[in-house]
Amino acid sequence: MPRLGRRSLLAGSALALMAADTVPALNARAKRRGLFFGSALSDDTLANDPMATARVDAECGMVVGEASYKWADIHPAPQTYDFSRADALLSFANSHAIRTRGHTLVWHEGNPDWLEPTLNAGNAENILTDHVRTVVGHFKGKLVHWDVANEVIDPDDKQPLKLRRTLWQRALGPAYLDIAFHTTAETDPGALRVLNDFGTDYTLAWQERKRVALLELLADMLRRGVPVQAVGLQGHLDAGEITLDQNVMAKFVADIASMGLKVIVTELDVRDQRLPADISVRDDAVAAHARAWLDAVLASPAVLGVLTWGMSDRHSWLNDKFPRPDRLTQRPLPLDVGLNRKKLWSAIAASIDSAPIRTAMR
Ligand code: XIL
Repeated sequence: MPRLGRRSLLAGSALALMAADTVPALNARAKRRGLFFGSALSDDTLANDPMATARVDAECGMVVGEASYKWADIHPAPQTYDFSRADALLSFANSHAIRTRGHTLVWHEGNPDWLEPTLNAGNAENILTDHVRTVVGHFKGKLVHWDVANEVIDPDDKQPLKLRRTLWQRALGPAYLDIAFHTTAETDPGALRVLNDFGTDYTLAWQERKRVALLELLADMLRRGVPVQAVGLQGHLDAGEITLDQNVMAKFVADIASMGLKVIVTELDVRDQRLPADISVRDDAVAAHARAWLDAVLASPAVLGVLTWGMSDRHSWLNDKFPRPDRLTQRPLPLDVGLNRKKLWSAIAASIDSAPIRTAMR
């Protein structure tokens, strides 16, 4: 075989690069199935990392602020609203024809310091209603979805409807959900209203309790006329978890769909802190795990789309929240720290490509 000279090697790698560019990006593939693909985008990435932001632009048809739409950022003092970071994200998205979703209006985390000490049974309804009217009103017609309520279930808290014991639940009981969903519907009827939660992915006993509780809560909300329209499955997966059962997952999504609700994968990432250091071992396991979970979820035509909680391993909340014992950076996202597509990218692409075609909406 003739040995390749330096020139032809260069020409070869340029060709390889061109070929990579012609491989359709995740959102382009998703669109062909009637789905969307998107990612969370942090203020820091948007402001300081143009290369990572360009990859979000290239791969995504939807973005969600990683923090910029949460209470602490948007409502820092009782009489002060600050939309600067949320508006910056929206204007980036608009100028790149990317849609934006809002996250989140009611949560027990991400709150400003003033909120919890101020809140009581007498003022909570007004405070919540004002916040939702002001924030949802500011973005009226501009956001496609709102995660109206986030992480509301915790059966182990032993509260009515298996709700998590939170500042809102203490002050208002289950009515806080009614208030948040009704006020969102009145203020921006066009934004899809989502109940977002985590921990429903495995056959672990506590996750089984959460699945049951979530289905019961949704049924109760619908009976009471609370205008919830979709469930957000956060999809914070763990590649070291061996209790993923595709049939259980597919049945859970089908049960949600049978209530007439849509489903969105809102925060997909795959932690690897239980896996060995070897990168190819981790990447294989992360990719296979995500593929199995996504295949089960995307089988349902009620699923509208998938977002990952960040696009590249340059930045993931998991390194703070679930650090590896060896402190190596986790590899939970579709692109590596050099912004190259990883096996997880290919797994998401393959799962999307094999999803049944559906009619696109929001
Ligand atoms: C996380 C962000 O990624 C962090 O940067 C922030 O400090 C805390 O919140 N579930 C959610 C998200 O719904 O809002 C969380 O985001 C991750 C878990």
